[in-house]
Amino acid sequence: MSDKVQNSKGLMIDVRDLRKSFGEREILKGLNVQVERGETLVLLGGSGMGKSVFMKHLIGLLKPSSGEVFIDGEEISNMNESELKRVRAKFGMVFQNAALFDSMSNYENVAFPLREHRKDMSRTQIDAKVRHLFQMFSLDAEVHGQQFPSELSGGQRKRVGLARAVALDPMIVLYDEPTTGLDPITTDQVDEMIIEAKAQLQVTSVVISHDIASAFKIADKIAFIYYGEIVAFGGPHDMLDSSHPFVKQYFSTWREKNA
Ligand SMILES: Nc1ncnc2c1ncn2[C@@H]1O[C@H](COP(=O)(O)OP(=O)(O)O)[C@@H](O)[C@H]1O
Ligand SMILES: [Mg+2]
Repeated sequence: MSDKVQNSKGLMIDVRDLRKSFGEREILKGLNVQVERGETLVLLGGSGMGKSVFMKHLIGLLKPSSGEVFIDGEEISNMNESELKRVRAKFGMVFQNAALFDSMSNYENVAFPLREHRKDMSRTQIDAKVRHLFQMFSLDAEVHGQQFPSELSGGQRKRVGLARAVALDPMIVLYDEPTTGLDPITTDQVDEMIIEAKAQLQVTSVVISHDIASAFKIADKIAFIYYGEIVAFGGPHDMLDSSHPFVKQYFSTWREKNA
């Protein structure tokens, strides 16, 4: 086993000097990110800074121009599609618009990945699992299960989306801007949901956000991305101590409001 693999032990995500260019444009400029098992990392930063491009490297949807991406101790950037498929099974993903199937009941939405991928499970076992997932995220399997996504509130839809994302027991859950465009109350509910998922499932989470209050509430670690570079990395309090001018500026308004 190489040193590189051994050094990644204990880390669920270990990204080293990741660079990515599209044509002449370098979008990621040497990122280093380490996330331990069970931690929540928030990628914070403005629009167009490279947050989604970074996240796509974690599941091998994009290949680095250079650098390394270790997931659960394995370097994935040179993997072929069938190896990547195995690694992607360790992930659950929650997207901005929940991406539920509108024509399926909420129950069927959550049952869907189990029916597709767990041919070993009986109908009864799947039913028990779906009910458990509904309960875990404070949804009523009888009431909300029979409804369709359009009949739920924004916060409830997010919870169905998360229940579906974790149905196959992922080790890592990725959230790309889960609260963008939501009202403050729903945003709070989504934050609570992310905290619940971490507590109940012991998953490692990576959350893209540009909301400082959310980030402070849910993060063990924050990586502040500015034009493809991590200009601050650490616990929420390390952000407030950052000497980087843009990080200072980003946090100063928030700090004044919350002083
Ligand atoms: N497949 C691609 N080809 C070329 N440019 C891309 C591609 N994906 C993203 N970009 C560019 O990379 C930059 C960062 O994008 P992105 O990571 O989506 O930003 P954000 O931080 O808002 O998530 C943007 O300028 C975007 O236009
Ligand atoms: Mg994005």
